[in-house]
Amino acid sequence: MTDVVLRVNGRERKASVPPETTLLQLLREHLGLTGSKLGCDVGDCGACTVIVDGKAVNSCLMLAGQVDGREVLTIEGLATRDRLHPIQRAFEERASLQCGFCGPGSIMSAKALLDENLDPTPQEIRDALAGNLCRCTGYTKMIEAIQDAARELRTEKSARTAP
Ligand code: FES
Ligand code: FES
Repeated sequence: MTDVVLRVNGRERKASVPPETTLLQLLREHLGLTGSKLGCDVGDCGACTVIVDGKAVNSCLMLAGQVDGREVLTIEGLATRDRLHPIQRAFEERASLQCGFCGPGSIMSAKALLDENLDPTPQEIRDALAGNLCRCTGYTKMIEAIQDAARELRTEKSARTAP
């Protein structure tokens, strides 16, 4: 067994798992965080995207042992008790999803992008979503939602930094 101690959504979590356990399995099956989805299991669809130390990763491609001592953010860590994250809210307002299966992964890719770049171009957003396959939508409403969220986050940031 492999012992793993990590921070998930700001909270220390521990698990003892078989060495072949992926990060996605660790999250879903051992930590009860089922928001990240299992699609292809081979790194093609992005449904399992989470953020590890600030970078969006396919959690089906990482072993649980590789996140020992690291910081993981999942879709469950975005909303506060009474408020969706601006990206989640914008996806909802723009009706950016249909079946919703790709949503958690797409939103986490968007979050990783906006954490680094609060004013992305549509092409930069497309590039950030390139690993997230959606069978239902044409991506346009997701891109518009991410632009809305970026605008809101820029406003929040300038309000915080105003003298
Ligand atoms: S389930 Fe991980 S990329 Fe498809
Ligand atoms: S909304 Fe169905 S796969 Fe994207």
